[in-house]
Amino acid sequence: MAKKTVRDIALKGKKVLIRVDFNVPLKNGEISDENRIVEALPTIRYVLEQGGRAILFSHLGRIKDASDQAKNSLRIVAKRLSEHLNQEVCFIPDTRGKALEDAVNALNDGDILMFENTRFEDLEGKKESKNDPELGQYWASLGDVFVNDAFGTAHRAHASNVGIAANIKETVAGFLLEKEINFIGGALENPDRPFIAILGGAKVSDKIDVINNLLKIADYVLIGGGMAYTFFKAQGHEVGTSLLEADKVDLAKSLLEQGKDKILLGRDVITAKDFDADSEKNTRDADAIPQDEMGMDIGPKTIALFTSYIAKAKTVVWNGPVGVFEFPRFAEGTRAVATALTTIKDQATTIIGGGDSAAAVIQFGLAAGFTHISTGGGASLEYLEGKVLPGIACVQDK
Ligand code: 3PG
Repeated sequence: MAKKTVRDIALKGKKVLIRVDFNVPLKNGEISDENRIVEALPTIRYVLEQGGRAILFSHLGRIKDASDQAKNSLRIVAKRLSEHLNQEVCFIPDTRGKALEDAVNALNDGDILMFENTRFEDLEGKKESKNDPELGQYWASLGDVFVNDAFGTAHRAHASNVGIAANIKETVAGFLLEKEINFIGGALENPDRPFIAILGGAKVSDKIDVINNLLKIADYVLIGGGMAYTFFKAQGHEVGTSLLEADKVDLAKSLLEQGKDKILLGRDVITAKDFDADSEKNTRDADAIPQDEMGMDIGPKTIALFTSYIAKAKTVVWNGPVGVFEFPRFAEGTRAVATALTTIKDQATTIIGGGDSAAAVIQFGLAAGFTHISTGGGASLEYLEGKVLPGIACVQDK
């Protein structure tokens, strides 16, 4: 990788600022998915083993008023982290001030502390999210070196990533950021071919830039999910009550013209009369969706088509489920795509670009069958769009 990593700097006795993305989902005050914590462990362990003094921080949720603060304290995350590390994580319930500074100065080699949600600073003038220069400078002053390992936040230019990087001598990537760059960046820059992109999700409008970018790079772009119906409409088919972005039909037409044989749409779909987990399901050809039915999943002919392409792939990037996988009755298509991808793991690099498709494979218990499941939602989407991510750009080159 062209970026410096945590392996490239001296850590012993250093105050090491580590930006992680611990923006984990919470349900009833409990962490419902700790994947982002687990994925950050290699960097944290490495810094501690090398004798660094780790100062961890992250955002959690979005903080608009004081009532958001109570719901989004990182205390619970610090507790979970200390269980994983089998070591005390000293939690400081502040984002600045004497208690934090004293705790930083009291750290010994191999100790770790975590301070409170960086977005608590958003209560006054969105200091974190607007990259207030004084805040980045202040946080930078707490450490000697900066390790950015928050890939999930890499599409944001906030005080806790780019702000610190602008005010400290050394900014390097942690192992998670490195892994994300190697897999996602590697697929985009130098994929083994055939390279297949599978794109799903509800809206074409959310994925225009991804489709445009991947049409330039991939050999085939397979399209499923809610956005497929705008493409079917662009082909001249009626789509019943399926999700349709009428104002994007022309755009879908031009993407189809531009993509030509590269774009593969389904041949059939699973429909239902209502958007309901228990709704009766029907299999319809893509050009024969009845007026009162909506597409909920890809059908068996489409599964066969998609899996025949997947079988030959050497690189696959998947972003967005191909059906309403949250309803078991309409999860078959997404499950079939996921299963097909697990069968090529030994011959191909299979990457899930975060978000709902990551949630789907985790729900199916198939996560171990992939080369890489990104920890980024918005970040992996923007990466796949070909954008420069500020959280990566701020890391020093080798
Ligand atoms: C995410 O979960 O996508 C990241 O943590 C970024 O969060 P944000 O969308 O609130 O900036």
